[in-house]
Amino acid sequence: KILSTKQMLLNAQKENYAVPAFNIHNLETLQVVVEIASKMHSPLIIAATPSTVTYANCDYLIAMAQVAARQTDIPIALHLDHHENVATIKADIDAGFRSAMIDASHESFEKNIEIVKEVVAYAHKYDTTVEAELGKLIGQEDDLIVNEADSAYTNPDAAKLFVEATGIDSLAIAIGTAHGLYKGTPKLDFDRLQQIRSKVDIPLVLHGASDVPDELVQKAITMGICKVNVATDLKIPFSGAIKEFFLANPSANDPRRYMTPGKDAMAKVVEHKIKICGSANRY
Ligand code: 13P
Ligand code: ZN
Ligand code: NA
Repeated sequence: KILSTKQMLLNAQKENYAVPAFNIHNLETLQVVVEIASKMHSPLIIAATPSTVTYANCDYLIAMAQVAARQTDIPIALHLDHHENVATIKADIDAGFRSAMIDASHESFEKNIEIVKEVVAYAHKYDTTVEAELGKLIGQEDDLIVNEADSAYTNPDAAKLFVEATGIDSLAIAIGTAHGLYKGTPKLDFDRLQQIRSKVDIPLVLHGASDVPDELVQKAITMGICKVNVATDLKIPFSGAIKEFFLANPSANDPRRYMTPGKDAMAKVVEHKIKICGSANRY
C-alpha cells in the first residue's frame, strides 16, 4: 500500500535521521530508488514534480508505486513535489497520492496560508500528508525558477505562526540550500535552523540537498531535518552514464542495454544518500 509520510517522518524525527525523498521520472529511476532502499531497509519517499506527473502520467506513477509497495517490506510514500495548483493536487489525491507538497512560497504570507489550508482540509480527509514551504529557495526545479533577489530565508517566528495556522504535517525551510548545483560551497544558516526547530514541532524538510557537502546535510539532520530532497545528484549520473555508453557504443539502440549503466550509476548515489540520511536498517 502506498503510504502517507506521516509515520515515517515522525519516526525519523524521534530517532534523529532523515527519510530520503528521491525525485524520479520514469520506470527505470523508480526501480532504482525502490531496489536500493529495499536492499538497505530504508523508508522511501518517491517524489514527482508537476512536470513528472505530466510526463509519466499520474495513474502510471501510482500503479508503479503500488507494485513497488507490494514487492517490498519498506514503507513507501508517493509524494507530489512542488505542486502549486490546488485542483491538481486534489485530483492526484483522488487518484491515489497520499503525500503532497503545496508550494505557495512565492505568494504573500497570508495568501500562502490560505492556499495551504485549503489543501490541508482536503488532504487530511484522505489520510494524505501535506508539506508546505515558507521562505524561498534559489535555483530552478523544473519549470519553477527563483532568482537570487527573490530568494528568502525562513523566518522562525513566521514559521511557528505558519505551522499553527495551516495544520501542515511537515515544513520545508529555506536556510541556504538551492535547487540544482552551487557555484561554490553552499553556506547553511544553522542558527536559523536551530531557531526554527525550537519553535516548530513538526518534521522539517530540506530541499535542494544535491551538491551540498555530506557533512552539512548530516549536521542539518542532527539539528532536526527529517526529510532530504534529492533530484539533481541522481539526474547527473543517470544521464552521464548513458551518454558514456552511447559514446562507446554509437550504434546502440536497445533501451534495456543503454538504460542499465544509467541505473547502475544512479544506484550508487542513492545508496550513498541513504547512508548520509541515516535511514538504513530502520525497517
Ligand atoms: P536538488 O536540485 O538540489 O536535487 O533539489 C531537489 C529538490 O529540492 C526537490 O524538491
Ligand atoms: Zn525542492
Ligand atoms: Na542543490
